[in-house]
Amino acid sequence: MTSFDAPTLIATKRDGHRLPDAGIDWLIEGYTAGLVAEEQMSALLMAIYLRGMDAAETVRWTSAMIASGERMDFTDLRRDGKPLKTVDKHSTGGVGDKITLPLVAVVAACGAAVPSASGRGLGHTGGTLDKLESIAGFEVALSTARLREQLAGVGAAVFAAGALAPADAKLYALRDVTATVESLPLIASSVMSKKLAEGTAALVLDVKVGSGAFMRSAEQAGELAQMMVGLGAAHGVATRALLTEMSTPLGCAVGNAIEVAEALEVLAGGGPDDVVALTLRLAQEMLTLAGIDGVDPAQTLRDGTAMDRFTAMVAAQGGDLGVPLPVGACTETVTAQRGGVMGDIDAMAVALAAWRLGAGRSRPGERVQHGAGVRIHRRPGDPVAAGDTLFTLYTDTPERTAPALAELGGGYCVGDTPPQPRPLIIEATP
Ligand code: URA
Repeated sequence: MTSFDAPTLIATKRDGHRLPDAGIDWLIEGYTAGLVAEEQMSALLMAIYLRGMDAAETVRWTSAMIASGERMDFTDLRRDGKPLKTVDKHSTGGVGDKITLPLVAVVAACGAAVPSASGRGLGHTGGTLDKLESIAGFEVALSTARLREQLAGVGAAVFAAGALAPADAKLYALRDVTATVESLPLIASSVMSKKLAEGTAALVLDVKVGSGAFMRSAEQAGELAQMMVGLGAAHGVATRALLTEMSTPLGCAVGNAIEVAEALEVLAGGGPDDVVALTLRLAQEMLTLAGIDGVDPAQTLRDGTAMDRFTAMVAAQGGDLGVPLPVGACTETVTAQRGGVMGDIDAMAVALAAWRLGAGRSRPGERVQHGAGVRIHRRPGDPVAAGDTLFTLYTDTPERTAPALAELGGGYCVGDTPPQPRPLIIEATP
């Protein structure tokens, strides 16, 4: 057996060479076990950031990350004696992106099972687990046995990635403090290691593009999408990606409970057009990839079957939708100084405002305010009269209002002409 040492492997990458497969395994296993030191992994991450990794190297890096924990397997999942197809969606992170909530219910109502390992928000991005935890009693830590039972029964589960790809949790925290987050192979392997470990047979990626997203340009997002699709294929998971617009928040609600409320509106057959359209498009992609045809996802929103799946999922995870969702005790409104038409609303400005109000966290483990957030009353292109309420801000801590207003201030305008409409779906991978 070849033996490795960290300085030699760091030098290999520093000098622009390929890391040997067994060396990658050794590094990830050793780092997860605490045998490769933080400073050595820091140096290696910077070398990868500067030199990159080729496709095969990224596949091996991802495999090693998956192997650092449990890889779940739901291939034998059955309902009423028939095999159940598993399929999931992952978003690279957006503003007002509550799509997972209605989507898992729609796809479950169409006959698939959705094991959706999710994360928490950090910085300006919202986290699906934080949103769902604003429902009283909702539990995100599920054992594999409970998850399997819920998938076979309800058909959907949204749970904490927990023991999946533990190498990623360590590596992500280290990347965060060593300025090495923005490396495409490191992002792709981080996202895909968790999603491939969760045991889904098919995966649709929603790669966000725009001011509120990780990827600001469609070119960069396309490259990341191709890399992740390749990683899925290399690990036997049918994967497809959509590039979608994230310059403006999705829907009218940005926060935690406020986004759950909007997801419930969608499940009840209403809700903002863009949230409904993206939910249905992603649902269609997921069903196609899972080989389920002859069902209309839109019908599940009309006939209440998606809502039934959602309430069943919440109940199975200990949640009680009968308890009112929390709303921040202090509210502040922003009104229009003039009449006209609402222009573009900058997703990042709204995200930062919601974060300042307490909806997000600046350090892992920090508590979020479930009732904090921003409601958007006029969306881009809507007519505005002087004095109309444009935004409502919610928080439990009044001193957070002024910094939130400052973030929001430069993020919108009321003018004389409507903004250029932006297509919601920018591109789909073949
Ligand atoms: N999300 C992840 O899980 N990892 C990254 O590196 C970036 C976004």
